[in-house]
Amino acid sequence: MTDFVNSLFSLKNKNAIITGGTRGIGASIAEGLAGAGAHVILLQRDLSNTTTADRIKKAGGQATIIECDLGVNSQVNNVVPKVLKIVDHIDILINCGGIQRRFPAEDFPEQDWDDVLQINLKSVFLLIRNVGKHMLTSDRKGRGNGKIISIASLVSFQGGLTVPAYTAAKHGITGITKSFANEWSSKGINVNAIAPGYIATDMTDALMKDENRSRQIMERIPAQRWGKPSDFMGPVIFLSSPASDYVCGDCMLVDGGWMGR
Ligand SMILES: NC(=O)c1ccc[n+]([C@@H]2O[C@H](COP(=O)([O-])OP(=O)(O)OC[C@H]3O[C@@H](n4cnc5c(N)ncnc54)[C@H](OP(=O)(O)O)[C@@H]3O)[C@@H](O)[C@H]2O)c1
Repeated sequence: MTDFVNSLFSLKNKNAIITGGTRGIGASIAEGLAGAGAHVILLQRDLSNTTTADRIKKAGGQATIIECDLGVNSQVNNVVPKVLKIVDHIDILINCGGIQRRFPAEDFPEQDWDDVLQINLKSVFLLIRNVGKHMLTSDRKGRGNGKIISIASLVSFQGGLTVPAYTAAKHGITGITKSFANEWSSKGINVNAIAPGYIATDMTDALMKDENRSRQIMERIPAQRWGKPSDFMGPVIFLSSPASDYVCGDCMLVDGGWMGR
């Protein structure tokens, strides 16, 4: 890389924490961050899953796994002190962990509503609040802006079908992204979101196997393909790097053109 490109996009000496890094979109994002030079700290409920950390280390990067079940608020609230036992600063937070539950709206179970709102919104609020407070109160001289990125969805803008809880949570993600950005953009913290379109992962397996839905979805995607987890490496590196210092409270679409139709 030229010095010019490095000065815009390098994540060397940055410490990045990420949820949802065990598989799917989060695994690719974690590998992308490490490839750009960051030490990646994976927040996982399953400590025995070392796949992503192993891949990063094999490629010459730095990765550490820390236990955190996004369904347990005491564990979520303990993340910052735990991470600060390993590194002095947290420079980047990526909220990518998430779950999906599908039922017809009239039968949507209350427990599933609570589970989805806990994992997809409350834990994200707690992590942004706590990591942001660390970024605001630690000495960041010479470290550049703090960067916080949460994974939203097309149903941050649309209603979807059979996914009312997921839709509420993802509308909430774009909402709190703007709320935190309004308070912190002048204080050296960029808070943004990324809205994926239809991406081939475990989460969308049922949709891909439903021939009718799958065909309808493809017909609306101008790029004429489902997205891949690796499509998120570039956008996340951009939003994590000095190249995006004036991007605040935004939700970037990475959807093959879906929202333009
Ligand atoms: N795929 C899509 O088309 C699409 C579209 C729009 C938005 N998104 C969003 O993108 C993000 C990643 O989605 P994906 O498709 O990559 O999903 P995925 O393949 O199903 O992966 C979900 C990730 O979340 C983690 N997770 C779930 N519950 C957790 C918990 N209680 N504690 C800790 N980690 C937990 C999983 O960890 P385990 O391995 O331990 O289960 C896994 O790493 C999600 O926020 C999702 O809503 C996806």
